[in-house]
Amino acid sequence: MDTYKIAVIPGDGIGKEVVPAAIEVLDEVAKLDGSFQFQWTYFPWGCDYYLEHGEMMPDNGLEVLKQYDQIFLGAVGMPELVPDHISLWGLLIKIRRGMKQSINVRPAKLLQGLESPLKNPHDFDITVVRENSEGEYSDSGGRIHSGNDEIAIQNAIFTRKSTERAMRYAFELAQDSRKHVTSATKSNGLTYSMPFWDEVFNAVKTDYPEIDTSVTHIDALAAFFVMKPQAFDIIVASNLFGDILTDLGGAIMGSIGIAPAANLNIEREYPSMFEPVHGSAPDIAGKGIANPIGQIWTGKMMLDFLGHSEAGTRVLNAIEKVLASGVKTRDLGGSSSLEEVKAAIIQSL
Ligand code: NAI
Ligand code: MG
Repeated sequence: MDTYKIAVIPGDGIGKEVVPAAIEVLDEVAKLDGSFQFQWTYFPWGCDYYLEHGEMMPDNGLEVLKQYDQIFLGAVGMPELVPDHISLWGLLIKIRRGMKQSINVRPAKLLQGLESPLKNPHDFDITVVRENSEGEYSDSGGRIHSGNDEIAIQNAIFTRKSTERAMRYAFELAQDSRKHVTSATKSNGLTYSMPFWDEVFNAVKTDYPEIDTSVTHIDALAAFFVMKPQAFDIIVASNLFGDILTDLGGAIMGSIGIAPAANLNIEREYPSMFEPVHGSAPDIAGKGIANPIGQIWTGKMMLDFLGHSEAGTRVLNAIEKVLASGVKTRDLGGSSSLEEVKAAIIQSL
């Protein structure tokens, strides 16, 4: 039996509610599968920890995390008490960068029983692979002068290594999917970075002759997400483009409370981090009404990454069955509590 050592960081707000719920579901699916088990270790890092210790996690936090197979995180943020840039940079970004989690993966799929804000959403099932370490979000640039003479420069950094890594990962995913990769570009407007991006894409695709490809400008791609999301399988995008596209992907699914995400170290040199798209939702924290599905689906992505995709599929099927049966939290127009949704998913497994 395989045992996975998972570092658990529930974080703040609803993170403390949805993480234990997801863990119960994951333990149940492990038990049903019989070939693996989880060993969870909780870390109380986040804004409460900051208010007590003056830091979001201890100095040796990254060293501690490196001893685990993966990281399962809820959400961080208590904007009334701790400024968001402190909570974000002191924990999340530190882990993403420190563990070289250079790929961010976010699926967007029309789930049975969910109402998309699109009038005719068809049956879309998209995975966006976003370069997570450089690109437009690079700490390179500066500001000089003031007043009318003021100048701001923000550099975008594209390395062949990271660009190629994201693209290869997209092609690998496509092999287990519907064998199509779309590259998000903008080489008609950005005259250095995106022609480079296109060149790398054209070179990488020759290694995957069995995969169909298309190249689409990001502005058109955003429009297609609304008009014909069913046309896409795997999409590879730069940091900024992927950021915007995945929020749109979450929106057409119906609620931010269900959207999952993974920050991957695909070399498996360090643990990867699995965290839902949503934040700590202070407006509904402590009321037992948060939707646990985003966190549970995030757990499914962890199962997939650990090589237990059968168990992962089981979890997603259970989620869809429960939604279709009408057991939903308020963000989805239902009236069920977090506990009721969790119990129904476990029952359905
Ligand atoms: P948010 O995602 O926490 O909430 C946005 C809206 O969606 C709220 O109305 C909330 O009630 C609702 N919502 C979110 N998750 C839900 C769920 N599971 N079930 C039902 N409703 C849900 O974003 P917001 O309000 O902008 O940020 C709150 C705090 O979370 C801030 O401190 C922010 O920095 C932090 N944050 C942290 C993230 C992370 O840890 N990865 C990501 C996004 C925000
Ligand atoms: Mg975003």
